[in-house]
Amino acid sequence: MPLSTSSVITLHINGERYTLPVDHRTTLLDALRERLGLTGTKKGCDQGQCGACTVLVDGRRTVACLQFAVAAEDREITTVEGLADGDRLHPVQQAFLDLDGYQCGYCTPGQICSAIGALAEHAAGWPSAATADVRPAAGPPPLTPEEIRERMSGNLCRCAAYPSIVEAVTRAAESGPASRTGARPEEEAKEPVA
Ligand code: FES
Ligand code: FES
Repeated sequence: MPLSTSSVITLHINGERYTLPVDHRTTLLDALRERLGLTGTKKGCDQGQCGACTVLVDGRRTVACLQFAVAAEDREITTVEGLADGDRLHPVQQAFLDLDGYQCGYCTPGQICSAIGALAEHAAGWPSAATADVRPAAGPPPLTPEEIRERMSGNLCRCAAYPSIVEAVTRAAESGPASRTGARPEEEAKEPVA
């Protein structure tokens, strides 16, 4: 009997549930953009190099071009579309807006999702390659520009807006715990997507 190459899966995205059939080779990025119309998440390199496709999966930053959609089933996915609360921007979005953390804006959704994940990792005490004292007892290191640059180094910006991005992440961190979570409460289930 031939093996099936597709499955019907349920994705939990920005507090909503979407049920859709997918080829097993479909990436989470293509499912978001091409199947569900969530085009806020951008495709840059499509091979895990640029960070443009970064989303949060169970609160952890993930490059959606290297994640199969079937492997994301039943996990909590947050994209840039799920960050604002109505007209109220997420603290990281607001900081990018206030401090011009972008030029063309193509990398920005990935930068913002990555910054949220990076701030959560920092608050949890995860060291980076720029951390001088990596002993667990040392706790989170000061969030210096060097720390931010290193922690955000997986997100490329072809406009080279890096100085403003570092300033924006610094500003967002100062706004407290809300800057490091993208989670929103689950809402009504959506109709199945054909
Ligand atoms: S598009 Fe996924 S890392 Fe570049
Ligand atoms: S703002 Fe243009 S690529 Fe980053």
